Amino acid sequence: MATVCDPLPSGVVDELGGAIVAVPKDAVWERDPHTAAKHDLLKRYLEAWAPILLSRNDVITYAEGFSGAGVYKHGEPGSPVVAYEVFAGALHRFPKRMRLILMEEDPRRVEELQRQMALARSRHADHVTARLSVNIGQGDFHPLLLRKLQSTSALGKPLFVLLDSFGGPDIPYSLLRELGRYRSTEVMVTFEPSFLTRFAGNHDGNRQLGDAAFGSQDWQSVFQQPSSAKFAFLREQYRETLRRAGFSHTLYFEMVDEGGRMLYLIFGTQHERGLEKMKDAMWKVDRAYGVRYRDPKDTQQQMLDLELEPDTAPLRRILRDHISSSPTGRTVQELQRFTLLETVYRPTQVIRVVRQMRDAGTVTAEPRSISAKTRVSVATNPPKASKAAEQGALW
Ligand SMILES: C[S@@+](CC[C@H](N)C(=O)[O-])C[C@H]1O[C@@H](n2cnc3c(N)ncnc32)[C@H](O)[C@@H]1O
Repeated sequence: MATVCDPLPSGVVDELGGAIVAVPKDAVWERDPHTAAKHDLLKRYLEAWAPILLSRNDVITYAEGFSGAGVYKHGEPGSPVVAYEVFAGALHRFPKRMRLILMEEDPRRVEELQRQMALARSRHADHVTARLSVNIGQGDFHPLLLRKLQSTSALGKPLFVLLDSFGGPDIPYSLLRELGRYRSTEVMVTFEPSFLTRFAGNHDGNRQLGDAAFGSQDWQSVFQQPSSAKFAFLREQYRETLRRAGFSHTLYFEMVDEGGRMLYLIFGTQHERGLEKMKDAMWKVDRAYGVRYRDPKDTQQQMLDLELEPDTAPLRRILRDHISSSPTGRTVQELQRFTLLETVYRPTQVIRVVRQMRDAGTVTAEPRSISAKTRVSVATNPPKASKAAEQGALW
């Protein structure tokens, strides 16, 4: 999928000691289509997250470490405003409380953010805004954000934290671990791999940035990877970092910005339901933004356009491999859970795909009609023609 503003943190230096890429200088900058895709994803996820959690809790919290100005050049809302609007809508329906905790380093952006949040507030009724508090802090996000979360007793209660920097690496693993100690915390982090592959090879300072972000030195094996595998390697290392921090389920979105730079938006949760809802949001992102996905488990790394009926050829390949890895086959229920936890696809897509594989003769199903309890095994002699059809078939 698509991007944020610019991938490098200010103040980061290359091997020659010079600044590498300028980050946006103005307080408010142009929103690119990929940032729009990120906001669409965030909005759709929070629209599911807020009502579920408000129905069971008195107070829930949304926090950002890198809030931006709350607005883009042509008046488009920034992520804090996107979140505020979703929460104000949810509070119309639930007699509960929400708080937004927002950090931003640049004083000009803080000033604009304060203005934008006041404007957002003015669009809603007093009985809603009285229950929706906004706390804006100016300064380096770490450790201030954590302190604010501690002092407001937000930790241990439902909490969504967006750490949307210019790509870093600038989120210390120690912060992720503090957040991951609580089952009810979810995070979304922007991670940009090319800085490390390009500028950390023989620059100790930059390597240390990597060590602090990953919480170990294992990521440094990236320098032994072939060029084509480096980004995927770092992405998987970063997902592993989130898992180690406590976020047992992760999902990522590949984003390519206007300049062709790759960024990952990586989501971490400890709840299967969170994962499910984030996947729903992901497949609903407006197609106009040109979002595409790639499943890490697909050996052919096919890019998937967002379509009303997404291309499930990679899911068929992935499921066939998974079914064949068990001598007794797998139940459809097991395949649905595997699909939720290990692929970019949704469990609801499984029954249709298994039916197709059965009809193509690549798997056998017992009983033949497909339900959650059906056991599926790889056919011993799949018909050649149908196997080819299965691999290449689009909807
Ligand atoms: C990618 S932009 C945020 C965009 C915003 N989340 C949105 O989607 O509308 C990153 C922001 O982080 C701010 N920033 C950079 N380093 C920071 C730090 N160490 N602490 C807090 N904010 C920082 C920048 O000034 C910039 O406004």
